[in-house]
Amino acid sequence: MKIVRHASVAFLLVCASCASTASDATPTTSTAAPSTSSSTTAESSTSTSATPGRAASDPQGTDGAGQGLDDPYYPELGNIGIDVSRYDLQLTVETAEVDSLIGVATIDFLPRESLESFSLDLVGLTVDSVELEGVAIPFDQTDTKLNIRPPGSLGAYIESQIVVEYSGEPKPIESGTTIGTIGWFDAPNATVTVGEPAGSRTWFPVNDHPSDKATYRIQLDVPEGLIGVANGVRTAARTLNGRSLSVWEMDDPMSSYLTTIAIGDFDLLEGDSAGEVPIRNAVAAPVSSVFDGDFNLTDEMLVTYEELFGPYPFDEYGALVVDANFSFALETQGRSLFSTSFVDGDGSIERIVAHELAHQWFGNHVSPGTWRDIWLNEAFASYAEDLWLEFGKGESLDALEARLIDRASLFPTPAPGDPGADDLFAPSVYRRGALTLHALRVEVGDEAFFQILRDWLGTYGGSVATTADFIALAEATSGQDLREFFDSWLGDGPLPELSNR
Ligand code: TRP
Ligand code: ZN
Repeated sequence: MKIVRHASVAFLLVCASCASTASDATPTTSTAAPSTSSSTTAESSTSTSATPGRAASDPQGTDGAGQGLDDPYYPELGNIGIDVSRYDLQLTVETAEVDSLIGVATIDFLPRESLESFSLDLVGLTVDSVELEGVAIPFDQTDTKLNIRPPGSLGAYIESQIVVEYSGEPKPIESGTTIGTIGWFDAPNATVTVGEPAGSRTWFPVNDHPSDKATYRIQLDVPEGLIGVANGVRTAARTLNGRSLSVWEMDDPMSSYLTTIAIGDFDLLEGDSAGEVPIRNAVAAPVSSVFDGDFNLTDEMLVTYEELFGPYPFDEYGALVVDANFSFALETQGRSLFSTSFVDGDGSIERIVAHELAHQWFGNHVSPGTWRDIWLNEAFASYAEDLWLEFGKGESLDALEARLIDRASLFPTPAPGDPGADDLFAPSVYRRGALTLHALRVEVGDEAFFQILRDWLGTYGGSVATTADFIALAEATSGQDLREFFDSWLGDGPLPELSNR
């Protein structure tokens, strides 16, 4: 970020893929974010923990430092030994010219067993100290892990707190998917972080896997003239001695990939509130005058989704529009992330606006247990776009169905239920996945279908769940045997036909 408030020169960022993205929330191109050849390719570097392996018979406790969470796609992500309940992040960005970060992360967690060591994910930043209950303790770093080795073992299920002081110049990393680079982005006119699937580890030490949800307090200390924005509700803000400080709180459990911070020249716009839910948008100043043309349906969408799915799950909602040039939007919790290249006020991103809002229920309130379960996010948010058109705008079921079939037919593979690590965001996950949900609706009938959605959110809201959990719940709620149904729809065989229409 190299930003001057009220700059006289407008930065014109051109997004080549936006024309196609604008009317279609399915990602088909790679992000235009700067490529970072010097950055760590996190997924390819193996853990270099000095003492790998789990010494289950070790009476001192398990050496968990080298143990990821065994995600089927990204086995090294996260740490199997800990369950984090809260991150308190105090982040200082000293100047507007260089993105250099000073961080203090206070992390409350439970050891899931007696631990001699454990690890957090952290890429590209230098840890200066780690304290456990106020006492400095040994640690070491690899390309992707902060290994922490308390003297003596940590007792299983005893609440523990560490404070990690760290610093450096954060950099993006390769996601290993078609999404391209993720993590910390230093755009010409703003700074923003994008987490999904595992980019949050570029700006704080984190158990970076969706299955370990936690609450967050994020304090941003930035140069006066800039504004910091993060997830949740802004609970404090002040400007003093040339520094602008804000505190953001997310009190509902949040998966790490849904965190975001952004720093730039924002206008904080109060939206029309939808029923009980306040809508507070943070909009990059250059597009704030046209913002409404693209986002003015948000409150109506929210009300429609509450009727279909149940209450909006968080304290407030809003859009975070960052002056940057990336070509997808991201459903960051409580405040979905868009780039200015999407926003011109012509209303053409209606489907994307609906998609990211729907993710707040599907993906954020109920999050995927593993990355293989990604269709539980993307198929549901995609089908919700059509549900908005049907229930919010009165589109006919026939039109909706024809379009769903068309879109799925173009991209039937890879299998939405197991697309593979490289293809996490394949169009089939979105499109065949969305048609799968419509097929389920046809199969079990409207009443059972919407009951399944509400039961799903009621049962797993605030937590995570897997594809197997969804199938089991759909079977229980509908009273039908749906194993074959899901096998054929979520696989990579020929696209099945809708049953009885
Ligand atoms: N989940 C996003 C969507 O709504 C797609 C996505 C994944 C993304 N990773 C991202 C977008 C990183 C922006 C940046 O479909
Ligand atoms: Zn999505």
